Amino acid sequence: MKFLQFKVLLVVFAVFCAACVGENRIERSSGNANTNVNIPVVDPAATPPANTVMVDMVEPELDVPYVPTHEMVVDEMLKMAQVTGNDVLYDLGSGDGRIPITAAQRFGTRGVGIDLNPQRIREANANAEKAGVTDKVRFIEGDLFETDFSEATVVTLYLLPSVNLKLKPKLLEMKPGTRVVSHNYNMGDDWKPEQTRTIKTPAGSTHYVYFWRVPERSGAK
Ligand SMILES: C[S@@+](CC[C@H](N)C(=O)[O-])C[C@H]1O[C@@H](n2cnc3c(N)ncnc32)[C@H](O)[C@@H]1O
Repeated sequence: MKFLQFKVLLVVFAVFCAACVGENRIERSSGNANTNVNIPVVDPAATPPANTVMVDMVEPELDVPYVPTHEMVVDEMLKMAQVTGNDVLYDLGSGDGRIPITAAQRFGTRGVGIDLNPQRIREANANAEKAGVTDKVRFIEGDLFETDFSEATVVTLYLLPSVNLKLKPKLLEMKPGTRVVSHNYNMGDDWKPEQTRTIKTPAGSTHYVYFWRVPERSGAK
């Protein structure tokens, strides 16, 4: 009798142990087959192992979506600003870096691109490498509203009307004579462009390029 009781106790203990092991196991059904997936229990407060690579998956909050400037428009922007090898060109929201890279290739211009999106910065650096102009251009991952671009002699923009208007006071604080070129969007009624050009691409899209020079302080608004 006692031996039987011991056997029953042993079975109960075995069932209890099996239940404990099963706590860390989630049974999932996929299609017709039942698959057992072992999911480790993670303590959210635990420090990751030393060799863990932390990847920031949070998308930056952009003021402007990425749309690259057509190369015909890039050419016109550089032509209107009369960019030379003595200039320092800043592209605010530089995307894949095409504007500073083209200026460096054609005229030997030193260029800086600022973009909030790390993916765009990686593309721009790869493009600069391919174009052989890494000694002339660099790309800064940052917010165009928080990054200093006061050393620029030429500023290029392809943003949005509201973003141009928000940027205008900062542009008007730049050294008088600094050239500003904008793809498609102007600076509102109180800062008229010196020149405006229209470009039609072979695919049929129409683009506008606006050119300004930062005025002497007394004339600035
Ligand atoms: C319309 S695309 C122009 C790209 C490039 N300048 C060109 O003309 O091909 C605008 C770029 O601005 C970047 N951007 C948006 N908001 C920004 C911000 N606050 N600071 C810096 N870059 C920003 C986007 O990631 C995008 O690459």
